[in-house]
Amino acid sequence: MATPESTPEAGDQWAPDTWRTRPAAQQPTWPDEGALKLAHAKLSGLPPLVFAGEARHLTRALGQAAEGRAFVLQAGDCAESFTEFTADGIRDKLKVILQMAVVLTYGAGLPVIKVGRIAGQFAKPRSSPTEQIGDQVIDTFRGHMVNDDLPERSARIPDPARLVTAYEQAVSTLNLLRAFTKGGFADLSQIHAWNQEFVATSSEGRRFESIAQGIDSALRFMDACGINLTAEDTLHQVDFWTSHEALILDYEEALTRRDSLTGDWYDCSAHMLWVGERTRQLDGAHVEFLTGIHNPIGSKVGPSASAEDVLTLCEHLNPERVPGRLTLITRLGVEGIDDHLPPLLRAVEAEGHPVVWVCDPMHGNTFTAEGGQKTRRFDDIISELQSFFRIHRDMGTWPGGVHIELTGDDVTECLGGVEDIVEGQLGQNYTTTCDPRLNGRQSLDLAFRIADLLRG
Ligand code: PEP
Ligand code: CO
Repeated sequence: MATPESTPEAGDQWAPDTWRTRPAAQQPTWPDEGALKLAHAKLSGLPPLVFAGEARHLTRALGQAAEGRAFVLQAGDCAESFTEFTADGIRDKLKVILQMAVVLTYGAGLPVIKVGRIAGQFAKPRSSPTEQIGDQVIDTFRGHMVNDDLPERSARIPDPARLVTAYEQAVSTLNLLRAFTKGGFADLSQIHAWNQEFVATSSEGRRFESIAQGIDSALRFMDACGINLTAEDTLHQVDFWTSHEALILDYEEALTRRDSLTGDWYDCSAHMLWVGERTRQLDGAHVEFLTGIHNPIGSKVGPSASAEDVLTLCEHLNPERVPGRLTLITRLGVEGIDDHLPPLLRAVEAEGHPVVWVCDPMHGNTFTAEGGQKTRRFDDIISELQSFFRIHRDMGTWPGGVHIELTGDDVTECLGGVEDIVEGQLGQNYTTTCDPRLNGRQSLDLAFRIADLLRG
């Protein structure tokens, strides 16, 4: 990481394109400059996906999580796909997230802020720019916003037209999410419908059913007491926010607009944006970009981050110390969390930075199985979460949320869980275009465990 001395001054001269003066890691080499300019111009003229007022609303909600009065559930695909894109897929992912949120709210009695890794999560940072396929070395897959995942040289050529396709897919995803969450599907009276069949028949599914029945009885009771439930919007709709890694800066810049109300800049591609573990360099383009947008933002924090790096990042990304502005998403791994988390908490607490501490128990626990698939053990994920909660409790800080890669589908990508997926079964339904995700049952199981941890 860069030293604090090399940190650029944030502020006055910021514009959506000032990131271009800094080294930008993980950007594709677009082969056709003209096509890139065209895509950029097209995106710049298209309507925003979200509005500044919504982003401010989310900052306020996250401020509650920074202060220990709410919990964040950030979840979704590792990489959204252009090819696996269906209304059912979006609905099923939403079902799992709503189920998890109910388990957490009911189990821990806390408001849960629901943030999807969705409607824009189309770009992936990679550890290597190339990969070996048979006797050929070809460019790596960088997410459908950039190239195709087929293991062929021609498929991997970055195509700027994909930036526009990503926007279009994000628009229709968000449109459906808004319809589902505001139009009746997320109504608490529909709670039984969120339990998909393959989940409902499992022990976690049955446990969920009993919560759902408890909620039904509570609603009937309130109704019988004469409380007008129809007038209570919060029972019929949920706030569901979008987020993704702000990786491909040509896309983010083109969707950055000035709010007519406040004059401030917002990246209108999502409510919340984060910078990844590989692009959080203090003097790099991604951090420069995030300093100027007024959305709530996040940064992944891996084991190589020193307390000083993290403090400088806080100063830089949230100089005015607005609660909810900055979420630190630690992804230290089950082996690293005990050593690495306490000094970070101590340093940030001592300086009084109001961050939301979120645990990503996925990205520090990935390994390659014998069959060649990338995978994660459910038990490692749980163990990292247990350490996260324990360390926060010991230090008197608030474990503010979790960041999970999941899908509503019945995939076999992560090992273990109640159905105990073993290595030999990974190939049965392994469909992710990037990292291994928890399936619907494993996700629900995880939510019950987190609710237990929240109750202490
Ligand atoms: C991700 O969230 O998919 C990711 C690549 O994470 P990280 O930046 O923490 O490696
Ligand atoms: Co991932």
